[in-house]
Amino acid sequence: MNHFQYRNCELFCEDIAVADIAKEVGTPFYLYSRATLNRHFLAFDSGFEGLEHITCFAVKSCSNIAILFLFGKLGGGADIVSGGELFRALQAGIDPQKIIYSGVGKTEKELRYGLESGILFFNVESEQELQSLNRIAADMGGKAPVSFRVNPDVDPKTHAYISTGLAKNKFGIPIQEAEELYVQASEMEHIAVKGVSCHIGSQLTLISPFVEAMRKIKAFIGRLSERGVTVQYIDLGGGVGIIYDDEKPPHPKEYAQAIREELGGLQATLIFEPGRVIAGNSGIMVTEVQYTKVNRGGAKEKHFVVVDAGMNDLTRPSLYGAFHAIQPVVKTGAAARVVDVVGPICETGDFLAKDRDIAAVQQGDLLAVMSAGAYGFTMASNYNSRPRVAEGMVDGDQFEIIRERETMESLIRGEKIPGFLEK
Ligand SMILES: Cc1ncc(COP(=O)(O)O)c(C=O)c1O
Repeated sequence: MNHFQYRNCELFCEDIAVADIAKEVGTPFYLYSRATLNRHFLAFDSGFEGLEHITCFAVKSCSNIAILFLFGKLGGGADIVSGGELFRALQAGIDPQKIIYSGVGKTEKELRYGLESGILFFNVESEQELQSLNRIAADMGGKAPVSFRVNPDVDPKTHAYISTGLAKNKFGIPIQEAEELYVQASEMEHIAVKGVSCHIGSQLTLISPFVEAMRKIKAFIGRLSERGVTVQYIDLGGGVGIIYDDEKPPHPKEYAQAIREELGGLQATLIFEPGRVIAGNSGIMVTEVQYTKVNRGGAKEKHFVVVDAGMNDLTRPSLYGAFHAIQPVVKTGAAARVVDVVGPICETGDFLAKDRDIAAVQQGDLLAVMSAGAYGFTMASNYNSRPRVAEGMVDGDQFEIIRERETMESLIRGEKIPGFLEK
């Protein structure tokens, strides 16, 4: 359930007509519903009521500080993967003791920043990272809190680009090797072992890979304890899928139930890193039709709807062949037609939808690209020198911009013509 619904053929975000917002801010723009963000956060988090846990929202999925602030107010933390995301989370007022830091390539500067900020723990992804942390913590005169991201070699049965828990993926430490590393870490002077972590992929639509991973983690924790290493935290990552089209992902409650059954008896605080399941259906991207055209050169007529948003604004269709429903902001009752919805970028791969049956549109019509709240704006770029679009949020009958549209000046900020070229 989300709060993007039609009232008399007009798409509303909560109590505001999306077309009215488009008039105010221009297109394209991302629009988030506060009520939906709240609802999805609580639907996830409340599944674990009675179990010690922290829901650390995956900042990479949707990183606007307004949204992080909102989750912070609901008791959430942050799962970060860069110094930039740490900065955002802190700016949004997230308690550092609810921040966990994942990622295979943390730099020395980033490790130091995490330590200085007093985050809950680092999800360490290699032995070399562990050595770096030990050295930096020694230099700073403290101890680095760590959890190892173990790679359980489980097939999440999702798109290859967002599968992370297979032995062939770059993430984590193979579960067979991790045991020795834990023993080693527990003897290091400037390391404090805190937990075990695992994240096997994103947009999972089956419970079984999660269960398989949990069983491997539970057995692993048992082996660690036999070697005298105990953990306070079990970080289960993110990954619960959402409905973009006709997927049937598990309800967060079903996921929570599986966790209770598999891990409920363990004395540890559970950490979750959900992104998509909270933000995905809480946001849309609104774009305006610029042109419609028909190419008749091939065996079959090809109809195109050219809109003002491109792959730089929403990358998922081009990058993963991902499906996003595309709906008219105002339903006209026009007959449907099979079209490609494409952007203005000079790449054949620049499309938002291919061979999609949508109601015929005209120049100036508005289209809503649904389920764009996660990995939408955060993956946007300035490719083709396009300023990144605005982000806005609705709360009931109120609307505010939460990120201004970039300007032409912002495109060249920091660039300069060196003196030697002017001679
Ligand atoms: C380490 C880690 N945690 C959490 C997430 C969030 O995943 P999702 O948005 O599917 O919940 C990701 C995304 O791939 C990730 O790599």
